[in-house]
Amino acid sequence: MNKRVLLIIGGGIAAYKSLFLIRVLARRGITTRVILTKGGSEFVTALSAGGLSGDKVYTDLFDLTDEADMGHIELSRSADLVVVAPATADLMAKAAHGIANDLATTTLSATDKRTLYVPAMNVRMWENPATQRNVKTLTEDGAFFLGPDEGEMACGEFGFGRMAEPEEIADAVEKIFKGDTTLDGLRGPKPLKGKHVLITAGPTREPIDPVRYLSNHSSGKQGYAIAGALATMGAKVTLVSGPVAIDAPPGVDLVKVETAREMLSACEQALPANVFISVAAVADWRPNNSSNKKIKKDQSDIPPLTLAENPDILKTLSGARDRPDLVIGFAAETNDVVKHAKAKLSKKGCDWIVANDVSGDVMGGDHNAMILVTSNDVEEWPRLTKQDAARRLAIKIAEEFS
Ligand code: CTP
Repeated sequence: MNKRVLLIIGGGIAAYKSLFLIRVLARRGITTRVILTKGGSEFVTALSAGGLSGDKVYTDLFDLTDEADMGHIELSRSADLVVVAPATADLMAKAAHGIANDLATTTLSATDKRTLYVPAMNVRMWENPATQRNVKTLTEDGAFFLGPDEGEMACGEFGFGRMAEPEEIADAVEKIFKGDTTLDGLRGPKPLKGKHVLITAGPTREPIDPVRYLSNHSSGKQGYAIAGALATMGAKVTLVSGPVAIDAPPGVDLVKVETAREMLSACEQALPANVFISVAAVADWRPNNSSNKKIKKDQSDIPPLTLAENPDILKTLSGARDRPDLVIGFAAETNDVVKHAKAKLSKKGCDWIVANDVSGDVMGGDHNAMILVTSNDVEEWPRLTKQDAARRLAIKIAEEFS
């Protein structure tokens, strides 16, 4: 793997494991550049880190030689992934609040790459509500987390706080490099364990004849990302999908369908579920009399295309006898987004509507700016990658069940 990691070694007894990590990564063809925090340098030396990484070790924001050599902005962009190990409560608190007052935190704040935090601290510090809030904030902002592990700590206490082992960290790094942004396999809290989530995604295809159909531009990316994020949080996920060109995320049960009527029937069969998320761009109409033979062009008239209305899957499941506890619809709008979303909330009988403006690059694109509309609140989210937006929605759903 011809990849580069920027490793920030924080101040903790587990810092010695980060020296092993450099070697394990090197064996897997991943080069490491190290930033050693002031705290970190109390536990391991720049000499050891530099000897193992075969590179200069960066330690102080105001070192003018460093800045001339490679400034903190350049440093923050020089790798494919930033790994913080050990991630101390202090480093995470600063990063979560955008505090940038030394080289490590300035780099974390300036980077355009994803960050993997590998926490290590006393169990009480890990369980502290402030630390947990910071972990949540960083997760919502798109950070990966690995651990901490349960076990006996250097301070003699027992619980969650031990840093993950170097081999496990290297596995996680490789997974991220292979594009597994679902965090699958990276341990973390599983707040949706025991919950069944049913999701529809992609377009539907309504046949005109065996070779022609009516459809739309939905790529399925947003629905698939949501399915992946929920599976990562421990949910059992059934994804009922129209034809798309992407693979199902790990740990998700995929049911492939073509038409709106097939999608409805697959959803009804998948019930009961705790949550239903209707992300699919279901075709509102289908050709009335689809032909089972290819319609030939040599007939004298252009064939008329008359349409019949498709079932509304969201509305049907919202009113079902075994209605899921939480029903979430999507609203693709090009104007008056919130107004239309509020109208859809009551028309479809769902609990939340995730509205987005599809006048830009949303359909088929990789980003989304969502507005979450509930009966008493409107939350506008920033423009995020579809993966990050998915994680944020998954966290919101988990909170609903906590
Ligand atoms: N939906 C559905 N079945 C349909 C049409 C839509 O389940 N036959 C769901 C979508 O998955 C989405 C929500 O309804 O969660 C809103 O879809 P949207 O296309 O925005 O709304 P429509 O009901 O089609 O209304 P309009 O086209 O007038 O905006």
